[in-house]
Amino acid sequence: MNIRIVIAVCLAALIAPLAAVERAVSADAAQVDGAAVDQARLTAGFQALESACFSCHSPDAAAGNRVAPPMAAIKQHYVQADTAYTEFSRALATFVQDPSAENARMPGAINRFGLMPKLSFDRAMLEDIAYYIYHSPLEAPAWYAQHFQAEQQKRRRVGRPALVTDADYLRHGRDIALRAKATLGSNLKQAISAGGTVAAIDFCHTNAIPLTEGASAGQDALVRRVSDRPRNPANAANSTELAYIAEAKSALAAGAEPQPAVHRVDGEVVAYYPIVTNGMCLQCHGTPGQALDAATHSALQDRYPEDQATGYGADELRGIFVVSMDAP
Ligand code: HEC
Ligand code: HEC
Repeated sequence: MNIRIVIAVCLAALIAPLAAVERAVSADAAQVDGAAVDQARLTAGFQALESACFSCHSPDAAAGNRVAPPMAAIKQHYVQADTAYTEFSRALATFVQDPSAENARMPGAINRFGLMPKLSFDRAMLEDIAYYIYHSPLEAPAWYAQHFQAEQQKRRRVGRPALVTDADYLRHGRDIALRAKATLGSNLKQAISAGGTVAAIDFCHTNAIPLTEGASAGQDALVRRVSDRPRNPANAANSTELAYIAEAKSALAAGAEPQPAVHRVDGEVVAYYPIVTNGMCLQCHGTPGQALDAATHSALQDRYPEDQATGYGADELRGIFVVSMDAP
């Protein structure tokens, strides 16, 4: 049985306020193709939306910080008074599985944010997401805030394994860092093969940070990538992170494998995981005129005038994943 659904079933009781609001907002929302709205599915849909889509389609990001339109705006473009759920679900999946100008209904959003990258999502998960979007009043921010809070509290209680020792946190943080690494890696490869290295730079420019942070959504944690020689100044390491980076570099220089580390600050456990280059990275992080060719280098200088992240060889420390986990 799908674990998301198990969690959803256990938590259905906590979603009761959502059901109440929903009935108030839309009388016919209580009927889906003749059946009552399935609360467990709504919960599963919300969790999937939060972990897979909100990193970009954040419901509450300020207008200036947006990387994609809010879901409420998307819903307005996809769901009219006479749109059936199955029709909406199909349209959503069609676009998400193959984002293209042809499948799009929001040309203005493409102009402003660039076409949504092609990410791979499970079809069943997309259906849950569609179910939630269709049946929930996304446009109600006060409701959202309340529901979001309930979601967070409930996760704190049951959504995460009990973490006690440093080793527990290191393991949980490693899972999150690995997920971020896998998401970044597969999307980077896809962007390079679809459009070449220069186009992939644009992709990273827009998506690297939201994709990274998305890997920690719903985990009472935040994952970031930082470096002592950042490309994006937003990824500059702070002093504690720099101290760990120095240690990891001397381990590498001594021919040893740099080990993750964990550090407790009030209310939080912060874990560090090394990020080491391989040959593939050098097309964007190597020495200009050698592995890093002129066209790529100039595209990088356009986007990142303060770029410090060139001149690397293989097997060097490029940066670290930093996973900050709530420690109740
Ligand atoms: C890495 C960032 C990112 C993630 C993650 C993401 N999107 Fe998007 N999405 C975008 C951007 C940028 C646009 C606006 C440009 C466009 O329409 O293609 C967009 C637009 C859309 C649109 C409107 C397309 C149109 O123009 O008609 C839909 C529908 C959509 N996203 C669904 C989803 C769903 C569902 C998820 C989660 C499963 C998701 N997106 C995850 C970036 C993202
Ligand atoms: C297609 C070019 C490209 C390739 C290939 C590439 N990167 Fe990057 N990398 C970038 C860009 C662009 C950024 C800045 C992203 C941003 O704006 O957040 C970046 C940022 C990073 C960061 C965050 C810190 C910083 O400098 O801003 C790390 C860590 C990193 N890359 C590691 C790697 C590793 C390891 C590889 C190989 C597995 C790799 N990159 C391959 C383009 C690339």
